[in-house]
Amino acid sequence: MEDFTISDDNLDDLKNKVVIITGGSSGIGLATVKLFVESGAKVVVGDVNPPPEPEKPKVTYFPVDVTSWDDQAAMFKKAEELHGSIDHVFANAGISPKGSFMDDQLDENGELLAPNLRVMDVNLTGCMYTTKLGIYYLKKNDKGGSIVLTASASSFQRFSVIDYTTSKHAVLGLMRSLVGNLHPNLPIRINAISPSWTNTGIMPPYFFTLLGNKVQSPDIVARSVVVLMADKSRHGQLIYSAEGKFKEMDGSMLSHVKKMLGSESSEPEEGVMQKILAYGEAMKAKQTL
Ligand SMILES: NC(=O)c1ccc[n+]([C@@H]2O[C@H](COP(=O)([O-])OP(=O)(O)OC[C@H]3O[C@@H](n4cnc5c(N)ncnc54)[C@H](O)[C@@H]3O)[C@@H](O)[C@H]2O)c1
Repeated sequence: MEDFTISDDNLDDLKNKVVIITGGSSGIGLATVKLFVESGAKVVVGDVNPPPEPEKPKVTYFPVDVTSWDDQAAMFKKAEELHGSIDHVFANAGISPKGSFMDDQLDENGELLAPNLRVMDVNLTGCMYTTKLGIYYLKKNDKGGSIVLTASASSFQRFSVIDYTTSKHAVLGLMRSLVGNLHPNLPIRINAISPSWTNTGIMPPYFFTLLGNKVQSPDIVARSVVVLMADKSRHGQLIYSAEGKFKEMDGSMLSHVKKMLGSESSEPEEGVMQKILAYGEAMKAKQTL
């Protein structure tokens, strides 16, 4: 698994493309907005907060809470009305953990309270809503398009932040489960990014200074989003970025799984599932005859 670089040529492909970005008002989303605007893309931002002043007039901003289906549905509808069609979607909005899953919160009777799962709502449900709407609108685009999800380095490692890691494993699961459902059956590619520590609003920068850890600029991560949208050969990829270097992870991880299982098929369970799905389709076709 080799590191690769991302050239500026990829940016040319974004000119005049319509891109919806959630969480585009800060951090990784904002860095991506800037890069896309510079590349001549038409950018639509959905975020609970407005983009900062230099970017605000250059994008179409909708106040959107990604956990609200209605907010997101209205944004996609208005974006299509405004621009005619949608080319790419970046499901990026996310939050850091809210309290520790390991802490016990008790009510006034001393009974254990349910944990706060807001992180699942934003990082997973919000991402699934964006993806569902993205597929619906990209299907209508004759030229097709792509969706990029913001996963994390915690999507494929043991990372001791329970709600966050669970949500980001699920985002990788969302990407993997869609690979066989989209391209080439539909003209839609799906990929994800998994940034290492990045200097954004999610984690105060003084922590990194304090701990003496390296942290990358969100401008680097934004380039991994661009290459996944611009390069039409990329489907089902997960690009890890750390300190300016990029690696495609999922191909290597899945080929390792194949070796471990020692099977002819890379995903034996998926092979059976494809047969079940094909059987279901055949039954449906019979009923409509
Ligand atoms: N910073 C890192 O080290 C790092 C590493 C891996 C993955 N990520 C992921 O990157 C994504 C972007 O985060 P970031 O690091 O740029 O942080 P950030 O806080 O700078 O940006 C997050 C953006 O999402 C918006 N947002 C939060 N909740 C929202 C909601 N309910 N609806 C709509 N918008 C909402 C915020 O207003 C903000 O603009 C997240 O999914 C995060 O999990 C970050």
